[in-house]
Amino acid sequence: MFGRKKSVLPDPSLFPKHIAVIMDGNGRWATRRALPRSAGHSAGSENFRKISRYCRDIGIERLTVYAFSTENFKRPADEVEALMALMSRYLDEAIADLAHENVRLGFIGQREGLSAELLEKMDRVGDISKGCDGISVNIALNYGGRDELVSAARSLAKKAASGELDPEDITEDTLSSELFTAGQHDPDLVIRTGAEKRLSNFLLWQSAYAELYFTDTLWPDFSTGELDRAIAWFSTRKRRFGDVK
Ligand code: IPE
Ligand code: IPE
Ligand code: MG
Repeated sequence: MFGRKKSVLPDPSLFPKHIAVIMDGNGRWATRRALPRSAGHSAGSENFRKISRYCRDIGIERLTVYAFSTENFKRPADEVEALMALMSRYLDEAIADLAHENVRLGFIGQREGLSAELLEKMDRVGDISKGCDGISVNIALNYGGRDELVSAARSLAKKAASGELDPEDITEDTLSSELFTAGQHDPDLVIRTGAEKRLSNFLLWQSAYAELYFTDTLWPDFSTGELDRAIAWFSTRKRRFGDVK
């Protein structure tokens, strides 16, 4: 089509298998438009739909998005409520559309602290989308990396105390298998929108060797074109994992 920009995407063999995104900047996006913060969260939620479909279409295997951290419960009650209501609405849509969208959707994070209604929808979505093989999406909801590691430590300690596990047999693999992401490939590329250069307790263990892409773009404005550029940048990285090759 005339005027259409050429994609900057590299050869698919160079794509990250697993992209993780810290979707930050919704509040600032709204404030700049003199809108309530909740309007920024709605716009952010729309953008998540767009980006997740795009990742599926170009062949990304897994996408993990940070939707709500354990620490986000510190926010004013009305903002927390607005975020939970948005998630609930998204799940209603997902229950109707997911199988046909061919998206496998799962959640990482603590169930404790979430409402029974939301948990029930999360479980239904998980069941419905189990057989989909288009892309696997993890939504990190009530997720904190330290909290996840504490739970893993507690679980291993219980197994050791009961004699089920010899502490000497604890390896990186045993610990990984206690995380919410058990059995999943670690993120290769972590993207943070919204200008901050920090992890804010996201996938602390899993991101040990991830490439980190930080952008000033606020999450509701993060486009598929910018995702292409992030993937292109990723494809030029030399990942040594401590080696000298
Ligand atoms: C990210 O946007 C969404 C959540 C943390 C739930 P923010 O709400 O943190 O937006 P800013 O950082 O205040 O702009
Ligand atoms: C990280 O953003 C959490 C999510 C995007 C869900 P925050 O806005 O909560 O992070 P901080 O507080 O700036 O570190
Ligand atoms: Mg923020």
